[in-house]
Amino acid sequence: MTDPKKRIVTSVASTAFTASVFVLACATRESHVAESRSRVVAVSAPLDSLDGTAYETAMRVKLPKTPPQEDPGLHNVFRLGPTIVSGSEPHGEAAFAKLQSMGIRTVLSVDGAEPEKDLAAKYGLGYVHVPIQYKGISDDEMTKIAKTFREKEGPFYVHCFHGKHRGPAAAEIGRIVLDGIPRDQAIAEMRQWCGTAQSYEGLYRTIATAAIPTAKQTSAYAWSFPSGQPIEGFRHAMVEISRSDDNLKALSKRQWKSDPEHPDLDAFNESVKVAKTLDRALQLEDVAARPPEFRKWLDESAKASVTLRDALAAFKEGKGTQDAVDGAYKRMTSACNACHDVYRN
Ligand code: HEC
Repeated sequence: MTDPKKRIVTSVASTAFTASVFVLACATRESHVAESRSRVVAVSAPLDSLDGTAYETAMRVKLPKTPPQEDPGLHNVFRLGPTIVSGSEPHGEAAFAKLQSMGIRTVLSVDGAEPEKDLAAKYGLGYVHVPIQYKGISDDEMTKIAKTFREKEGPFYVHCFHGKHRGPAAAEIGRIVLDGIPRDQAIAEMRQWCGTAQSYEGLYRTIATAAIPTAKQTSAYAWSFPSGQPIEGFRHAMVEISRSDDNLKALSKRQWKSDPEHPDLDAFNESVKVAKTLDRALQLEDVAARPPEFRKWLDESAKASVTLRDALAAFKEGKGTQDAVDGAYKRMTSACNACHDVYRN
């Protein structure tokens, strides 16, 4: 069913040959898919003018206010179109069971972390992994994402980590190639529904103005839809940090005390992980080659993470103050953000 070769066949679903393959496959759902794929959806033209930034242009089309759907292990979920749902990384078994009950067939991750493809498979879900960056989507990534929507079986669940920035941008490529929506509608959905932040102008700009390959081009592109693309070096360090930092953020709102619902999450343990990862990152070869300013911020955030770790250790023993922990956390995140503003977004 998930044999990539067979799925590539669906891309040329208009030929009698593929029709007969589907009759042989003898599955109504498959023939339905084949039928809907034989409709060629024209890709909407890039916007030829912006109202200032692409983010600002995302108000040209006004959308009704829609709250996200929240489920156990799935956050910031929006059903964008008949076969495209955008949301956070699925956390745990309940999340995959929910995706299955929603009728999802393929999960597309554009996050850096390797997908839980075995867990997904247990619920009959295929996974495709195309990690993208916050600063925008490259031509190569664009082709892979468009090909996934055209050739894998929908409905699709598209996610990054939080489901707010990169995931929605990728999901909008699906809206454009499968639903034929105009570009201004696509960026409006990113901003007004999914909450993609203003700082990710590169993502907005991609969806507003980048060329999107035609069905003919994506079908000619040879690619086997990998379900896990290992990431290395500095980027991998960032992916590792993101989980711990997210936990620290949640714990900072609880005065650094563990949540009874997640007793396994401990602020001190998370700070140890962050400090270790930043220390390792400082020694990476690909960091040595970066500009001095980059290394300075990395060094600052590493030092602040050690201060945070020590402050949390003292706080845990009843010696330190919450103010000391808050201050260290704030210094660390401002070093993270200073670097991201210049080198990531
Ligand atoms: C010295 C610069 C620098 C510092 C300091 C830094 N980052 Fe990053 N971060 C980056 C860059 C560059 C990327 C993009 C990496 C890429 O995709 O190649 C990134 C990516 C990320 C990502 C996205 C990972 C993904 O899934 O692709 C997260 C999350 C992140 N950083 C969190 C943090 C946190 C939390 C801190 C502070 C504790 C931090 N970063 C400190 C430069 C930095």
